[in-house]
Amino acid sequence: MNHLFKTKQISTTELKSSELKRTLTLTNLIALGIGAVIGAGIFVITGNAAAVHAGPAVVISFVISALGCALAGLCYAEFSSMFPVAGSAYSYSYASMGEFIAWILGWDLILEYLFGASTVAVGWSGYVVSFLADFGITIPAVMTSAPIDYTENGWVLTGAIINFPAIFIVAILVTLLVLGVKESAKVNNIIVLIKVIVILMFVGFGISFIHTQNWIPFIPENTGHFENFGWTGILTGAAIVFFAYIGFDAVSTAAQEAKNPQRDMPRGILISLFICTILYIAVALVLTGIVKYTELNVSAPIALAIDSVGDSLRWLSPLIKIGAIAGLSSVVMVLLYGQSRVFFSISNDGLLPPVFSKIHKKFKTPYITTIVVGIGCAVFAGLFPINILGKMVSIGTLLAFTIVCIGIIVLRKKRPDLPRPFRTPLVPVVPVLGAIVCLSQMISLPLDTWLRLIIWMAIGLIIYFLYGWQHSKIRKTDK
Ligand code: ALA
Repeated sequence: MNHLFKTKQISTTELKSSELKRTLTLTNLIALGIGAVIGAGIFVITGNAAAVHAGPAVVISFVISALGCALAGLCYAEFSSMFPVAGSAYSYSYASMGEFIAWILGWDLILEYLFGASTVAVGWSGYVVSFLADFGITIPAVMTSAPIDYTENGWVLTGAIINFPAIFIVAILVTLLVLGVKESAKVNNIIVLIKVIVILMFVGFGISFIHTQNWIPFIPENTGHFENFGWTGILTGAAIVFFAYIGFDAVSTAAQEAKNPQRDMPRGILISLFICTILYIAVALVLTGIVKYTELNVSAPIALAIDSVGDSLRWLSPLIKIGAIAGLSSVVMVLLYGQSRVFFSISNDGLLPPVFSKIHKKFKTPYITTIVVGIGCAVFAGLFPINILGKMVSIGTLLAFTIVCIGIIVLRKKRPDLPRPFRTPLVPVVPVLGAIVCLSQMISLPLDTWLRLIIWMAIGLIIYFLYGWQHSKIRKTDK
């Protein structure tokens, strides 16, 4: 029987086991959201988005991107309150839109988490290099940057050997994850606090060093290329800084552990999104106010801005760098952890070989998945520059968001009977607008990023039809 569109029943055991450890409050959920969100997006990618795509108007890019996230977030919230189980969008779509769409989304989430972790690891490397340089320790540049890049002439070798610090941090975090060390809610709260304080310090102390002439022109004139400046550049900038918001959906993966998922999931998602948006706008304004946007295409732009002020803020520089390094480490960890969870759920459903859901006897962790994911992540982080990786993550995640938005409309039609503790307001307006904003950001990304997405999805389809389709547990119950 054709089971491609058969939906998975959320089993009562899945729901029951989740009732055992409902400990997370709304504050914990917001902290979880902010913990997963603030990372390389604001600390690194904003610099490139301003320097190459939007100028000081990167602030507008942040607003557009937040709008898409908020609309998609409202859709996520309806799903997460309907299916308060772990596994995020993959599990929601399996329960609502069937196996095929779930696989596409699951494969897309692998792209988001795997490449996301690589991207942030590269960002981590930039700040570590800048921090060590303050103490006179210089690692040769050939060991701290990507050997491969993509330019107008296609793929090129840069002359670098490998981004060693990026591989180093992935190796450390994978080892911790295999050993079962997980960031506890307490550690997460501390790191969130550090990140927010560092950002507030940057904004608070940086504000008096703004030269308003750096904001002129606020929207630099388009260069004739769609993605370079002007309003189209702002849209491309939005798609690129979208990376900075990725992770707020992590709140929904914690639905099993939330005390009151129905009430708190949507609130947790939207409040963490709101707080991050305000912080990002403030940082973008101060950053482009202190340094001319043309100079921001560097691996540690916030550090550059602080250092450019000179003696008066010298004391702040190491603090900001340490804060960024701690914050970025925790984002890599959350993404690697999320990734192994998605692999684990998919493998549990029979769509990937059972070895991926194998649990280590002593450490009780899905160690094989974690190690495989870690190796993949380290390879990408070691070889490619942050901008290529980040765009790939943005396009993949925007696709996932678009599917989630459309899914809400489909599910309202198909299963109007299901209880919806949180209902997305103004359906179909909100999901349709959400899908439009996400799609228009995708469209404004360069062709080569699209090609990479298509290749990634094609690989996914091949794996599905060669393996998942035959081994799917749902298919087996059909017989
Ligand atoms: N939003 C996360 C970051 O910016 C992934 O690092």
